[in-house]
Order: sequence, then C-alpha cells, then structure tokens
Amino acid sequence: MHVRTKLVVANWKMNGSLAANAAWVEQFAAKPRLSGVELAVCPPSVYLPTVSAKIAEAGLNIAVGAQNCSAHKNGAYTGEISPEMLSDIGCSWVILGHSERRQMFGETNHGVAEKVYRAIQAGLRPILCLGETLEELEAGRTFDIVGEQLDAVLDRVGAQALAEVGAVAYEPVWAIGTGKTATPQQAELVHATLRDRVEFRDPVAAEKLRILYGGSVKPENAAELFACNDIDGGLIGGAGLKADDFYEIARVAVSL
Ligand code: PGA
Repeated sequence: MHVRTKLVVANWKMNGSLAANAAWVEQFAAKPRLSGVELAVCPPSVYLPTVSAKIAEAGLNIAVGAQNCSAHKNGAYTGEISPEMLSDIGCSWVILGHSERRQMFGETNHGVAEKVYRAIQAGLRPILCLGETLEELEAGRTFDIVGEQLDAVLDRVGAQALAEVGAVAYEPVWAIGTGKTATPQQAELVHATLRDRVEFRDPVAAEKLRILYGGSVKPENAAELFACNDIDGGLIGGAGLKADDFYEIARVAVSL
C-alpha cells in the first residue's frame, strides 16, 4: 500500500494582519519541530510574501498557499491574481472551489475545474474543495454532489495530475465554522467513496491522492478523524488561526 504523508493546511480566510501573522509564526516556531507531516498555511494573498519570509526566517518547514486564483493566465481581469503570479512569489499551494467561494462568489464546477487546470499549468498545487450543503445532506444527495464536483475536475485535468501535485478536501458545508463536525464514520464513508471514484479512472492515482477533511477540525477531534483509512489530513479554518491549536492538530497527524 502506498503511504500517504498527512497534509495539514491552515486556511486563514479573510483574517490576519502583519502583526497577528508575525505573532502566529513566532508562536509556532517556539515549539519543538515536527517531522513526518506536511504543513501549509494559506493567508490572504496580500500577506503571502511577508508570511513566507517570516516562516523562512524562523526556519520552519511550512509551505504557503493562496485561497483562490484566476482561471486566466493574464490580461484585462481587474482585481484578479493569476496562478503564474502566485508561483512567481514562491507560493506552493492554492485552495480552489472552497464552499464560501462557490456559495458567495458564484463559482461553478466548470469554473473551478478551469482554475485547477490553470493552477497546475503554473506549477501550483491545488487543494480542490468539495462538499454538500445541509439541504443536500438531508435530501440524501451527498454522493451525487461531491461526485459531480470531483468529476468536473478529473475530466479537465485527469486523475494522475490531481493526485501527483494536488489534494482534495472534503468539507461538508454544514460543518464549516459551525462547530458541527462530521463523525469520523460519516467523513470516512465520503472519503472512501471519493477514492473509489478516482480508482475507477486510475487505481494508481487513487492510492496516491490525499483527501483531507475540513469542517470544525480542532485539537480535540483531529485524532479520531485522521485515524480513518481515507482521511489524509485536514483543512483547518478557525483552529488554524491559533498557532497553538494548529500545532496540536499537526502533532496529532504526526502521531498517526
Ligand atoms: P472551519 O473551516 O475549520 O472553521 O470549520 C474549514 C474551512 O472552511 O476550510
């Protein structure tokens, strides 16, 4: 069996400041170094260079990522940031298709697939977010919804590319920022189903693909989630803003 190194990513969303970001890095750096887990932090784009510099200064092994990028290469797209630009400043990862972007900024499966394609072309590592809403969960549509979200990207970039450089994050919308976490059984079932779906196209890619769980992950519930066969780490919102909590979650990932 292929061993997938756990990946734990902090999504700071639209939070932070120069001072708060520096304090976060300092706090994290004051703790014993962790190995055996891959870490990334995704601040708002304007802070990418300074956070990156602080991390390097502190000698930490944490990659940085953006929370979105354009589906276009360059040109007249006022207010947008291209994947090439993110690559240019040394950004490694990019979160794409987060439910907040799908719900509040009208992102579609097709549009997200295009962004994933462009991001990979630019040398970025996409974290493709998928997840059903409470309404969809209650209507028993979880597998249809996440299946469609995944297929759109697999059709565009192929299973191999996604598995090689990217990752998937299953984030039930009803669990994001609500304090309501999917049970490990609930999450594992969706993760295993997503992996099966990739396996149908490419068994090698399926084995390699990291599928993270996101939605109210905390130091207290990380162990039971990360212990599941098909949960390869986490995308951490609220708890990722606190260096201590993020560190604890990363430590849990190392121990499993
Ligand atoms: P949360 O957010 O951990 O605050 O629920 C997760 C996310 O939206 O990525």
